[in-house]
Amino acid sequence: MNNTVPPELEQFENLINGFMEQGFGTCEHFLEPAVINGLRNKLLKLHESGEMHPAGIGKNFDYKKNAEIRGDVIRWLDEGNADEQEQLFFEKLDRFVNHLNSTCYTGINGYEFHYAYYAPGSFYKRHLDRFRSDKGRQFSFVIYLNDNWQETDGGEISLYLENTDTRLAPVAGRVVFFKSDETEHEVHVAPGRARLSIAGWLKKL
Ligand code: OGA
Ligand code: MN
Repeated sequence: MNNTVPPELEQFENLINGFMEQGFGTCEHFLEPAVINGLRNKLLKLHESGEMHPAGIGKNFDYKKNAEIRGDVIRWLDEGNADEQEQLFFEKLDRFVNHLNSTCYTGINGYEFHYAYYAPGSFYKRHLDRFRSDKGRQFSFVIYLNDNWQETDGGEISLYLENTDTRLAPVAGRVVFFKSDETEHEVHVAPGRARLSIAGWLKKL
């Protein structure tokens, strides 16, 4: 396997050209393997200590209804309290957003990210990421943290574009980037292992 980190600008261009030409962009090794490992360990620690919870918990949260749609548990990243790895993640993201804004006039001026833990057998059914209550979400951005993920592990993301189903495995360091209000997608079951990621949204507020 090629473990070198491609030049940053090339990664940014891959992400941007991808969504312009086919509705989603992807790139590999968005962060150094050591940073990915640190983020993965942080996620696992949060999970073990019970600090993750089903998404959308709140006044109108219906656990049963939620569980039929998605089974992950999440924890929002707090930029003000970021550890070393999280800081490196946010710094690179800031450079990406600057590049995106200056080349595509996207006007992104905010973002939010959460860790996500999909226990074996859980999924997130086909959906769009922009809800009525989330008008600001422009782009979805997911980075995967799964070491040594095998094709037979499952857990792909499906991106549905013009009646085609493109599947990508959640391998460590891979990023998937798409328009939040346009690209329907789905997370498939990984029957035998937990599936770890950071998912987030670039916003225009
Ligand atoms: C989401 C989502 C995709 C993935 O969190 O909204 O669709 O591959 N995640 O984890
Ligand atoms: Mn989604």
